[in-house]
Amino acid sequence: MEKKHNNGHQHQGKSSERLVEKEKIVASLSIRTGQKVLDAGCGNGYMAVEFAKQVGISGKVYALDPDASAIAWLTEETRGTVIEPFVGDVTQQTKLPPSSIDLIYLSTVLHGFTPAQMQGFVLEAKRLLKPGGTLALVEIKKEETPFGPPQSMRLSAEELESTLGLSSINRVDVGRYFYLQIFQLP
Ligand SMILES: C[S@@+](CC[C@H](N)C(=O)[O-])C[C@H]1O[C@@H](n2cnc3c(N)ncnc32)[C@H](O)[C@@H]1O
Repeated sequence: MEKKHNNGHQHQGKSSERLVEKEKIVASLSIRTGQKVLDAGCGNGYMAVEFAKQVGISGKVYALDPDASAIAWLTEETRGTVIEPFVGDVTQQTKLPPSSIDLIYLSTVLHGFTPAQMQGFVLEAKRLLKPGGTLALVEIKKEETPFGPPQSMRLSAEELESTLGLSSINRVDVGRYFYLQIFQLP
């Protein structure tokens, strides 16, 4: 599926940009100055831009996507900022060092993973997060919606927990059709 954004950039998969409550997401994540954030499956990077405002110039926001054209476009757009876009696959080991990230964020990415990819993702998330680090996942609610993948492909909050083998510390609605689930590593 290809979506043309109002900024002219195209990438695989539909952007949640105009459908989620960005401010509510940011407020729920308590991001601090100087922190390091990974927006995995960043698409056009609209949340990486929000996270960059929170971490400030002493922080860093990595924006990862396998879509090379999305990353090339974002690299141009964010030159000279704390955002570092790069081509990658979060279901495999990335170039980032272990225990280096305070927050990993994925929005409407996980429901497309196979069981093997999900397993690889959990391993990589645990490798990357600092002790006490946060994993934050936005997914489309598993109910009737005017868009999105078939309900059989979606993950309810409970299914997300059991699939990942992690217990969430918070869950909030972030728009009519989306929820944010937050996990904290020990
Ligand atoms: C539906 S789009 C969501 C984009 C953005 N997060 C948003 O909320 O608008 C899904 C994104 O996940 C990316 N993606 C797919 N497989 C991935 C993987 N294995 N690792 C990282 N990103 C992946 C796609 O390239 C696409 O940009």
